[in-house]
Amino acid sequence: MQKRREFIKGSVLGAAALGLGSSVSQAAGGPRKQEVPRAVNKPLVISTWKFGIEANEAAWKVLDKKGRALDAVEQGVHVAEADPSNTTVGLGGYPDRDGHVTLDSCIMDEKGNCGSVAFLEHIVHPVSVARKVMEETPHVMLVGEGALQFALANGFEKTNLLTPKAEKAWKNWLREKNYEPVINIENHDTISMLALDSQGDMSGACTTSGLAFKMHGRVGDSPIIGAALFVDNEVGGACATGHGEFVMKTLGSFLVVELMRQGLSPAEACQAAVERIVKKYPNYREIQVGYLAMNKQGEYGSYAIHKGFNYAVYDQTGNRLIDSAHYVNR
Ligand code: GLY
Repeated sequence: MQKRREFIKGSVLGAAALGLGSSVSQAAGGPRKQEVPRAVNKPLVISTWKFGIEANEAAWKVLDKKGRALDAVEQGVHVAEADPSNTTVGLGGYPDRDGHVTLDSCIMDEKGNCGSVAFLEHIVHPVSVARKVMEETPHVMLVGEGALQFALANGFEKTNLLTPKAEKAWKNWLREKNYEPVINIENHDTISMLALDSQGDMSGACTTSGLAFKMHGRVGDSPIIGAALFVDNEVGGACATGHGEFVMKTLGSFLVVELMRQGLSPAEACQAAVERIVKKYPNYREIQVGYLAMNKQGEYGSYAIHKGFNYAVYDQTGNRLIDSAHYVNR
């Protein structure tokens, strides 16, 4: 901890060493020195979990044509939203305990604009409704029936999102009605994505059907700007996956971005945000939260409470899956 405090205290130097600050730095009492500008790793897209590999492919198609990061993240997470075999996002997502598939999603662009929808039913691509909220209303968030009316008025089609597989799982669950989220089992595998485009601009998106068999009306972290997603184009972006209540209680993604602003690397900032949960909530062993972040240089990193969280990275060297560092050793 002491080391981290010293690191944060020395954040001006830290930032310069990372190439984040101005191109000119001054060592204490020494002459002003010109920093050698480092190459920035762009374009770049990162996203949570194994299904991020396919989502990154779609995002890369946009980035590779020098497209905007905002379009890349929207197209990227569409893949998971439309996949009926994915039981934690969009179509095919597990329902709440009353049998309703309710979706949460948000999106944030390089100008600090953001939009979100929560407790939205019947729409395959909630992220695109969130984008419409951002671009075509004076608001940030629409929920439930109002969000559905807005989507339908904007040309989105009403679809039954409850697949036979999800319905069967729900009916099995009803036999015991045992509400017990299981770590890394696909009941909280949100897809969150961050992209840095060729222009050096960053955007992010997050979308989920939330915790399986949750209470009707429950909304998680995924539509909450600052919790599951935050982007500051001057600094970087962060996003989350896992047990949303703990991400919300600590406003995790905002925290990660602010720690990067103070000079921490993406991996260090994610670790500090996880350690915040561990310090404050003694039941941390029963929950999983993973953070993923990138800075403006195209450096990225992650940290999770438990082993098992992984993320997909696509840059000029290709698309690959990386196992996250984690807090609990078991
Ligand atoms: N992170 C997804 C949720 O808790 O709903």
